[in-house]
Amino acid sequence: MIAPGFSGGVVWPACVSDERTTTGEVVGIASRKAATAVLNAHVAVIKGTPMRRAIGDALMNGGNLGGKERRFVAFATRELSRHLRRINLAASSRGYPMSKLSLPEDQAILRYALWRREICHAGIDKILIEVALPGPIRPRGIPDQVLRAALEQEVELDFGVTPLDQAANKHSFPTWLAERIAAIAPEGELDAILEALNREPTLTFRVRPNGTRDAVLQEIHEKGLVAEACEELPDAIRVSDGSRALFDSKWNKEGQLQVMDLGSQLLAAFCKAQPGQTVVDYCAGAGGKTLVLADAVTNKGRVFAWDLSEKRLKEARSRVGEAKLRHVSFPSPPRIDLADLVLIDAPCSGTGTLGREPDQKWKLSAKQVAELTVTQLGILKDVAKRLKPGATIVYGTCSVLREENEGVVERFLAEVPGFREDELLRVWPHRLEGGGFFGARLIKS
Ligand SMILES: C[S@@+](CC[C@H](N)C(=O)[O-])C[C@H]1O[C@@H](n2cnc3c(N)ncnc32)[C@H](O)[C@@H]1O
Repeated sequence: MIAPGFSGGVVWPACVSDERTTTGEVVGIASRKAATAVLNAHVAVIKGTPMRRAIGDALMNGGNLGGKERRFVAFATRELSRHLRRINLAASSRGYPMSKLSLPEDQAILRYALWRREICHAGIDKILIEVALPGPIRPRGIPDQVLRAALEQEVELDFGVTPLDQAANKHSFPTWLAERIAAIAPEGELDAILEALNREPTLTFRVRPNGTRDAVLQEIHEKGLVAEACEELPDAIRVSDGSRALFDSKWNKEGQLQVMDLGSQLLAAFCKAQPGQTVVDYCAGAGGKTLVLADAVTNKGRVFAWDLSEKRLKEARSRVGEAKLRHVSFPSPPRIDLADLVLIDAPCSGTGTLGREPDQKWKLSAKQVAELTVTQLGILKDVAKRLKPGATIVYGTCSVLREENEGVVERFLAEVPGFREDELLRVWPHRLEGGGFFGARLIKS
């Protein structure tokens, strides 16, 4: 059969077997069409398009991609950014430094082929079927035989001398970022943390309202779908076979399920919001944690949601409307003076959720992190001065960096009198599947 979209009368196998992550999760099918879409998405990323949009565009323009092909496109595009440094090292070790390739298309094709070889351990013939000429993207300066020659070289990668260089090269992190993570990592756990931050996230949901998990899980199982209870929380469920079926399920459409990282759910639970309380969700974004807080305070309490971004708040409003949560409102300003509890889910580097947004590690700089800490401390101080005595602030991030977490809290407590630290939460990505998160409960006396 001639693969649709490719000319030249070349015969390609119709389909190849399922691709899996290192932990065995099926992540789709690496057909030629799917490989083409990956290359187009990666070229767009090289040119500066945000990854989510690059993947979305590539899927939209990728022809009739099947479900497993689409999953492969999203996964592989993330992988090329995730393992960028290691793949570039693999290229230069074989005599093809990326700096010598002026066409982004050539960089993409070489990276893709080396990723398939080095990380997925795919066979060379199979890789060449995925990307061989004619196609899949133009312009292209690397002929098939050069690609084959690069892939056939057996090279031992030199990750460097110091443990830090070794970790940064092996797990593809900028050295400055690996250094910051090393500074906070428990003894001997840096490798495991970086490895966990490179893992494709598992799909987790929260079952709402509170306490209905067993009944919903039973219905899900009766329909033959796979999901399991997470032992860490009473309302969390995990889909570990990589299936997206629950996305399209009636439970998700009817609002009984909410897609949410386990770490995010732990941070929301760490707020310990109680029925009847008045809670402000100060950085509500698109309303993920607003729903959790609203379920926790029940209709005896109320939630005021607020965000600097009107666009995100609009999304939050529509989610709250769909969930028919009449005790959530969006006053501006958000009446912190009435709150028993304020959640500040602060804007942060997102270094705890790199599994989802791997291109972030190449965009982020130490200077940006320093700027973020100024914003974080500013938000905390702003909320603190409007809070009533006895009320609680929960400050949270999805960052693993000390300066955005304990660092900000320490500065806040040193600079703002009248607060005490009640409890800290550190969710380590290598100890709990679901990202790196931080929380601090601060009580005003
Ligand atoms: C980590 S996100 C929040 C995610 C959200 N809580 C959720 O669970 O989906 C951080 C949010 O902080 C908002 N933000 C940034 N600066 C802010 C400020 N000065 N005041 C309030 N919100 C701010 C951003 O627009 C962004 O939506």
